[in-house]
Amino acid sequence: MNKTWAALALIASTAAMHAATKIVSGDFGKTREGELVRIYTLTNKTGVEVKITNFGGRIVSLRVPDKEGAMGEVVVGFDSLEGYLNENPYFGALIGRYANRIGHAQFTLDAVLYHVPKNDGDNSLHGGTRGFDKVVWTPRELKDGGLELVYLSKDGEEGYPGNCKVTVVYHLTDSNELRVDYAATTDKDTVVNLTNHSYFNLKGSGDILGHVLTLSADRFTPVDSGLIPTGELKAVAGTPFDFRKPTAIGARIENDDEQLKLGKGYDHNWVLTRTGTSLTLAARVTEPSTGRVMEVFTTQPGIQFYTGNFLDGTIKGKGGQPILRRTALCLETQHFPDSPNKPAFPSTELKPGVEFNSTTVFHFTK
Ligand code: GLA
Repeated sequence: MNKTWAALALIASTAAMHAATKIVSGDFGKTREGELVRIYTLTNKTGVEVKITNFGGRIVSLRVPDKEGAMGEVVVGFDSLEGYLNENPYFGALIGRYANRIGHAQFTLDAVLYHVPKNDGDNSLHGGTRGFDKVVWTPRELKDGGLELVYLSKDGEEGYPGNCKVTVVYHLTDSNELRVDYAATTDKDTVVNLTNHSYFNLKGSGDILGHVLTLSADRFTPVDSGLIPTGELKAVAGTPFDFRKPTAIGARIENDDEQLKLGKGYDHNWVLTRTGTSLTLAARVTEPSTGRVMEVFTTQPGIQFYTGNFLDGTIKGKGGQPILRRTALCLETQHFPDSPNKPAFPSTELKPGVEFNSTTVFHFTK
């Protein structure tokens, strides 16, 4: 193949990878401040459908086939915007400026001490009081069927330094991949950690304890009682945190283990086994009764596996159903929690003139 053909073949395969059969949009309501919110439906040629709103960049619905080909809902969420405007634990949301926890809600950068909101005991969680999950993003429907969302987080917003421009692009491919590309730039040194906080249940309802999980991780980051990493990278071998071989999530969740007690189940960051920063398989979840499989690929160094331990039925989701404990799981690809205070962890610092980029792909098979 000569160079031109090679280039064309590459462009074609990229276009095919990104092609979503269609994207349609509609009104989703208004925020309490009166801002208009939209909802976008991306559908591929196999009929897989994802609905995303520009309020918090949230994945509202994701319908994928089971082993018989029947489409079913696999994410927790609400039927209308109202549910998302009310207090809820980040259902489907984009999380920033700093996903996960910052210990004592403070960090030092360039010898300056920054304070961020304490919204999780003594710590700061998921960007503070009004994180990226609660803001209206500027949407743009892309020609290739993707949805671009842009948010400018102002200098000092939620305590973080620098005007930080964040771009997230969602694509649904014809091979049933939901691809999320993140980019961020800043005009002052800052810290950034971005993720999506979808709650999955591949069965559609009931608990997720029978879902079978594999994680590409030899180590995890043990936490203290505030769920802040101690700094240790602990080997998973011989612990209930070893998911290197497919294991039912419920198999060891009630084991007499200090870390499981602290998390009230799994609510920890695993250190992904990787060489370099290419897109690699981080997690695989299979649901035996429906045959649904979800693979998570990422360029990120870590993944927070959370078993919905804090869900308690007080929030009513789609169809008015109470969202009960451990009826959904999160696989949040990310940098490690509290990295701004842990110099030995991969750095989350972002400097002017540098673009942060990361990609996560959720691939559905059966
Ligand atoms: C993350 C955290 C959990 C919890 C949820 C939201 O997964 O690690 O501890 O805060 O978000 O409830």
